Amino acid sequence: MPALRQHSIEVILANQAPGGAFVACPTMPDYQYSWFRDGSYIAYALDLVGEHAAAHRFHEWAAGVIVVHRAAVTRAEACIAEGRPLDDAAILHTRYTIEGTVGADWWPNFQLDGIGTWLWAVGDHARRWAATHGARDPREDLPAGWREAIETAARYLAALWRVPNYDLWEENGNQRHAYTQAAVWGGLAAAAGLLDRPDLLDAANAVRAELLDVTDQIGHFTKFLPGSDSAPDSAPSGGVDGSLIGVALPHGAVPVGHPAFACTVALIERGLRAEGGGVHRFAGDEYYGGGEWILLTAWLGWYYAATGQRERAAELLAWIEAQADARGNLAEQAPQHLIHPETYQPWVGQRGPIAQPLLWSHAMYLLLCHALEETS
Ligand code: BGC
Repeated sequence: MPALRQHSIEVILANQAPGGAFVACPTMPDYQYSWFRDGSYIAYALDLVGEHAAAHRFHEWAAGVIVVHRAAVTRAEACIAEGRPLDDAAILHTRYTIEGTVGADWWPNFQLDGIGTWLWAVGDHARRWAATHGARDPREDLPAGWREAIETAARYLAALWRVPNYDLWEENGNQRHAYTQAAVWGGLAAAAGLLDRPDLLDAANAVRAELLDVTDQIGHFTKFLPGSDSAPDSAPSGGVDGSLIGVALPHGAVPVGHPAFACTVALIERGLRAEGGGVHRFAGDEYYGGGEWILLTAWLGWYYAATGQRERAAELLAWIEAQADARGNLAEQAPQHLIHPETYQPWVGQRGPIAQPLLWSHAMYLLLCHALEETS
């Protein structure tokens, strides 16, 4: 639907601050922050639709924030070296205000996936930016401030990747998560290339080897990795999470055709997709009752398009388009098939209606449109 594609671009651009940050959702008070995670996918989508300057402004913002908060990384490295627990001054936050300052919210901030995803996205953007500016090598065109930010973010991930941290849904802070580790791998691999640092690739490979270990044991990826604060030697639990699609797409820890990955997607389709509908985050999700997430549905469609299953991808695209409101705005989740209907109203009471428009939903819709166009 060209109208929804165009509207998605407009919603995103209209909600980019002059300094480059994107608010996650303009109408929800709790979502007035700019997340590295959401923003990286949004910037990637902008690059795919040719809005390179806007994507560039986001990366400019993100690089600036990391440089301003770089003392946290030195402190994190010292904590790890001395065996001390990390405190708030030793972490890069997962979200900042649009001005790049630390927010006053109560949400957990220690999440490594957003920083990993930013490194992957800035690497991708640097290649496209160089190509549109006639440079043959993206490293030639990298602004000095970005280089420092990339190096700082990579040091942070290399120091902390073994430490349990909150997942991309901002839950389970005492665990380690396959999606997060894939994002860390993707980020470190991108930084290794941008900075010519083979040592970063060694760290990336160690992260990936551990991630693949689980698949050797049980044949597919799982939401949690074994080993956490509470149960260091626990075996991997068999449960999946919709975000595991990200292990291959975009993070490339394995190719989309990898058998363990195909098995993981089949488990997501069987266990987390509402019949004929969208994709839930994980079994037992209670956030706003645990509806079907637009962005995960687009993510699954992206996988189907990338593996030549166009009809399935088109079916998911049509479902997403049917969820847009009269103005064409896409929400975070659709509340038709709730896992826990009893938790829906309490969340509405606490935060207001489900976030809409959610910029990340619009971005993932654009990624799916693009994947379908590419394979037509
Ligand atoms: C989600 C995060 C997301 C944030 C902003 C949270 O509810 O769990 O994944 O980054 O909203 O969109």
